[in-house]
Amino acid sequence: MTELARAVALLRAGELVAFPTETVYGLGADASNPQAIAKIFAAKGRPADHPLIVHLPDASHLERWAVDIPDTARKLAAAFWPGPLTLILKRHPSVSDAITGGQDTVGLRVPNHPLALQLLCEFGGANGGGLAAPSANRFGHVSPTTAAHVREEFGDAVAMILDGGPCDVGIESTILDLSGSELRILRPGMIDAADIGAVLGRAPEFGGTQNAPRVSGSLEAHYAPRTPLQLVAAEALAETARQALDTGRRVAVLANQPLAFSHDKLVWRSASADPAQFAHDLYARLRELDGIGCDLLLVAAPSAEEAWRAVADRLRRAAAGSK
Ligand code: TXA
Ligand code: MG
Repeated sequence: MTELARAVALLRAGELVAFPTETVYGLGADASNPQAIAKIFAAKGRPADHPLIVHLPDASHLERWAVDIPDTARKLAAAFWPGPLTLILKRHPSVSDAITGGQDTVGLRVPNHPLALQLLCEFGGANGGGLAAPSANRFGHVSPTTAAHVREEFGDAVAMILDGGPCDVGIESTILDLSGSELRILRPGMIDAADIGAVLGRAPEFGGTQNAPRVSGSLEAHYAPRTPLQLVAAEALAETARQALDTGRRVAVLANQPLAFSHDKLVWRSASADPAQFAHDLYARLRELDGIGCDLLLVAAPSAEEAWRAVADRLRRAAAGSK
């Protein structure tokens, strides 16, 4: 049996299979099997009212999962799927409450990764099936961008981990709510407001619907490494690091440039000046720096420019999660 056939067989049997996507690794289960979905919540330690994204092989199965699908959804699917965009639509009545957290909407996306697409086609191409898949990390922790990260998170608690190499994008998909009269980005990602605006002729707003508290990625403390993380303006990094080192702490610094001094308890890792590359590297860097056992992780605060919004969002939450 091929790896892929084994993965499909496990999913059909109600087991969990982690798989790569272009954003982060997902922890997949048959979206029409509530017992399989319950295993996701148990493995992640995630509150049951947090909804899951359903991953589909292509946009032709949208009607199986959503109703009242607006034209905007079809335009965006045509422009960006497969790709890092999740659309929130009115749920089809057959979609389980276990997926939607009891809400009247459902999140759908077609991921752009060859292995994920093969898996989704084998699993659901013929029958319209989909895979519910949150990021394959314990609740509140940093998302995994390699198969090894998933193993670190779950060990043997997951039946199988498909290894598709490091994720291209590195941070989670943009979540766009199309279920109401306004367009709203609930979670910023690499497909940004301008990209969406260019397709639809009107740009979305950010945040704040009645759904927002149910978006776990919208909790203030999220995506957090274990080491306390502090965002510091680039000009103040050296001084902040020095003060922490003076109190005997081991300090890691993630910044574009190394500090002008060295110290045996100071570790520097380079961060890209390009937002897409920064996003690509971010979670792997946080895990690596977590692994070397520091007392404090200082990260140079990103620019306030729109291109940095998604990264700034993840960093702000990681810092909030450290307090
Ligand atoms: O890039 C991604 O989106 C990754 C990969 C694996 O596809 N998945 C991911 O899933 O990040 P998760 O569960 O870690 O984050 C999905 C977010 C959650 O914050 C969830 O609350 C929100 O999507 N969400 C899902 N369905 C929703 C809905 N119907 N309404 C509002 N938010 C929803
Ligand atoms: Mg997540």
